[in-house]
Amino acid sequence: MYRKGEVSYQALPLPDRVQLPPEESLRAAQDFLAYMRKRHSVRQYAPDPVPQAVIAACIAAAGTAPSGANHQPWHFAAIADPGMKARIRAAAEEEERAFYAGGAGDEWLAALEPIGTGVSKPHLTDAPWLIVVFAQRWGTTEDGQRYKNYYVPESVGIATGVLITAIHHAGLVCLEHTPNPMPFLNNMLGRPAQEKPVMILPVGYPAADATVPAVAKRKKPLDQILSLFP
Ligand SMILES: Cc1cc2nc3c(=O)[nH]c(=O)nc-3n(C[C@H](O)[C@H](O)[C@H](O)COP(=O)(O)O)c2cc1C
Repeated sequence: MYRKGEVSYQALPLPDRVQLPPEESLRAAQDFLAYMRKRHSVRQYAPDPVPQAVIAACIAAAGTAPSGANHQPWHFAAIADPGMKARIRAAAEEEERAFYAGGAGDEWLAALEPIGTGVSKPHLTDAPWLIVVFAQRWGTTEDGQRYKNYYVPESVGIATGVLITAIHHAGLVCLEHTPNPMPFLNNMLGRPAQEKPVMILPVGYPAADATVPAVAKRKKPLDQILSLFP
């Protein structure tokens, strides 16, 4: 990563300019909405393999995300190795046991009840790939100097949203799994202490009998999430 002082401001003509006629723009927006309504977090996976190149392209798409000062404060670990997936599952289930035994608190557990989640996490070994998303609290230059990152949770959240959308676009499904806490992932995946694991995304094809919680289909209507000032 470059450092302040190593690069200076230089303007380029906007690449890839697009300007659709309004009606085409509306159609594109509505088509995308219909497409995104078909994205579902999935907890049951088929054993069918997914080529590594597909996972790499989805992660490259995530890497195009905007970020504070363009520092791109993220790292993604993609795991297909069955032994490593089994170790991640065992460690995650250990955290989940403490979480569901009371660590979460009553209100959180009540909120999770309609989602139907519990201690057992078979998706961590059934899915052909796990992608672990890390947020870099600070960065390090090639010569080992530390630099500050800005808006890290916002930037990593946007990149993860792009990743989830890319996975959906590739005809795959995933789950946003957040065992709490997750520092065991730093040790297992050899990532430095300044990187915070924020999410595990099992990625693959849904099992033939996959289900989704009915409550997940209840999205807030537009008038509840939008204030318009035309
Ligand atoms: C930050 C975040 C953390 C989540 N953590 C978990 C989790 O640990 N386990 C789980 O089963 N689902 C988890 N989910 C998935 C949500 O339950 C799911 O997104 C929600 O029920 C809506 O369903 P949908 O994604 O199919 O629209 C998480 C989602 C987000 C965005």
